[in-house]
Amino acid sequence: MYYCLHQHCELVTGAKRGAIYDFVTGKVYSVNRGAVELLKACTDQPIHQLLDSSTPDDQVYLQFLDGLTTKGLGSFYVTPPQHAPRPTPAAHAESIEFLWLELTSNCNNRCLHCYATSGPSVCDCPKVTHDRWLSLISEARQAGATAIQLIGGEPLLYKNWRELILKANEEGFEFIEIFTNATLVDDACIDFFKQYRVNIATTIYADNAEIHDQVTLHPGSYEKTLTAIKKILAAKIPLRIASIIMKANEDQPENIMNLCKSLGVEPTPPDVVRPTGRGDDKDLLPTAYAKEPIKPPFYTDEQTFYRAQRCHSCLTGKIAVTADGDVIPCIFARNQLCGNIITAPLAEILSGEPLKNIWHTTKDNIEKCKDCEYRYACNDCRPLAQGSDSQKRWLACSAGCSYDPYTGKWEHELQLSQK
Ligand SMILES: C[S@@+](CC[C@H](N)C(=O)[O-])C[C@H]1O[C@@H](n2cnc3c(N)ncnc32)[C@H](O)[C@@H]1O
Ligand code: SF4
Ligand code: SF4
Repeated sequence: MYYCLHQHCELVTGAKRGAIYDFVTGKVYSVNRGAVELLKACTDQPIHQLLDSSTPDDQVYLQFLDGLTTKGLGSFYVTPPQHAPRPTPAAHAESIEFLWLELTSNCNNRCLHCYATSGPSVCDCPKVTHDRWLSLISEARQAGATAIQLIGGEPLLYKNWRELILKANEEGFEFIEIFTNATLVDDACIDFFKQYRVNIATTIYADNAEIHDQVTLHPGSYEKTLTAIKKILAAKIPLRIASIIMKANEDQPENIMNLCKSLGVEPTPPDVVRPTGRGDDKDLLPTAYAKEPIKPPFYTDEQTFYRAQRCHSCLTGKIAVTADGDVIPCIFARNQLCGNIITAPLAEILSGEPLKNIWHTTKDNIEKCKDCEYRYACNDCRPLAQGSDSQKRWLACSAGCSYDPYTGKWEHELQLSQK
């Protein structure tokens, strides 16, 4: 008898353990080193040559194989199984899907944590001309982008933002969004958003003016933002509300979620301030609130699994263009310069080595993750990992992970075993 995992399963080896990825249920099962070696061997060697069913240790392995069969992960075979070859990841070039345009660094708020270090006193001498923004929108669409977001600073402080929306519509972008603090949204803006199918994203930091304005350092900003939110919702314009937690508002996550619910907006758990720009300040960090750490269970599907071996799970297909014309892979990855649209056409930047390298950064390149069996199911935020690393290394492992692939243990398991 032979044993083989089904076609819809993949075995991934880590430094100490392995994992079986099941594309039917989406589950990822952790297995020990002995099981990994057995599964590798028993596809082309008969089981009786590998295991002695009279010894207790090997009986455990036989029960393990029975368990896999019960879970629908594999089968015993009388002759060595002839599986169709595994699909090899298509070697196609990745193309742009989404871009952020940071129209200005200027802002009427001066939020404590702003990664773009925006504020009212930031010099607003435009480096990118209006014509260049317009031509960039065409170039991005021609290159395949279907989604665009105008952001800043405060994008509504950019005088001709409406023309950019008209251009994005004309070019046929499927998704157009403005990320605004909403303090400047008036009735004319609402009519325009509605007419030109603009989606809105905005931010609240509390369910009350006192704390929200302590974050924005703009007295009256809460009232303005909330008034705009109500008008946007009344006009049935698609709206999402983001929220970031730092020390100043760390007692607010639940209040914010409740406020969203009462407004009829889908609440999403607030993010924690990221260490970029003014946000790169330990004194801003909340003491009690934290995002969910990286931990099992992991889930996967076939497409994500193969894509994760080829390119980055989040960065691929995205670029951000700053008010200086710099192209960076993400609004948070401010030191990963990939070109400048004032001096180069977008197509040249998209095919350039710096961006290609970033889009093709997989967990196989990342410290520690490269030896982890969960690496094709585990999400990754490079700017966050870099920002949290004491040496600010781009390929540092995420600070939110307590797994040690070299011992096969999670930190909480170690703590329990030490008690
Ligand atoms: C830079 S703002 C630009 C759009 C608009 N001015 C606003 O505040 O909604 C976009 C989003 O990034 C968030 N943000 C700014 N700095 C951040 C940081 N250091 N970490 C996480 N999010 C941050 C803001 O709170 C806001 O939700
Ligand atoms: S987070 Fe947004 S509103 Fe706050 S200073 Fe930065 S750009 Fe302005
Ligand atoms: S962050 Fe890296 S080491 Fe941690 S579970 Fe994910 S892939 Fe494994």
